[in-house]
Amino acid sequence: MIQNKNTMTTNPSYSRKRRFVIAVTGASGIIYAHRILEVLAPVAEIHLIISETASLIARDEGITLKNPEIITHENQNLAAPVASGSFLHDGMVIIPCSCKTLAAVTSGISSTLITRSADVTLKERRPCILLLRENPLSRVHLHNMIEAHDAGATIMMANPPFYHHPQTIADLIDAVIARVLDHLGVDHTLSTRWSGFDA
Ligand SMILES: Cc1cc2nc3c(=O)[nH]c(=O)nc-3n(C[C@H](O)[C@H](O)[C@H](O)COP(=O)(O)O)c2cc1C
Repeated sequence: MIQNKNTMTTNPSYSRKRRFVIAVTGASGIIYAHRILEVLAPVAEIHLIISETASLIARDEGITLKNPEIITHENQNLAAPVASGSFLHDGMVIIPCSCKTLAAVTSGISSTLITRSADVTLKERRPCILLLRENPLSRVHLHNMIEAHDAGATIMMANPPFYHHPQTIADLIDAVIARVLDHLGVDHTLSTRWSGFDA
């Protein structure tokens, strides 16, 4: 017997606070993760997953990511809610995304919570943003970027623009985060938008 036929209108999950999965992997630039968490935590429910190498790099780069206001999951906990497509969320960002995690996502290897969550986010056709940081890029990296793109991911590079005349490192970081937020559909005033040479 089918019950609760009208759950579309009564299920509280359809009017919930916006919810994002933020994953941090072992690439340089952990400051990008720190900044997006700082911006999103007051306005959204955040589910944070940090890879083992990202923890080491965060310590080396002097960044603390864990925050009591943010729900954090262990990367080995494949039973966490974010591992399931039934867990509703509004998008996932892997920031920064290592080329190794890109390769795992591209090939559907879901052996960690980060890669499983990305796999699920893609199959559920939700926004899945990979903010890569590597230079130069090999053919393997470029091939994997195309594959991830074709699977539904948005590939971004951690390379800031300069048209807003940045004065500080924070200005550079915010210009990159601004584009990520644009793709998540989150309003912000982090960085000025291009409006022409004479504006
Ligand atoms: C200090 C340090 C910096 C690294 N920076 C990068 C980087 O910028 N981009 C990248 O793709 N890999 C980088 N790596 C390599 C990755 O951390 C490595 O491939 C690792 O297996 C990634 O695992 P994860 O994606 O599960 O975090 C770096 C490693 C270390 C130790």
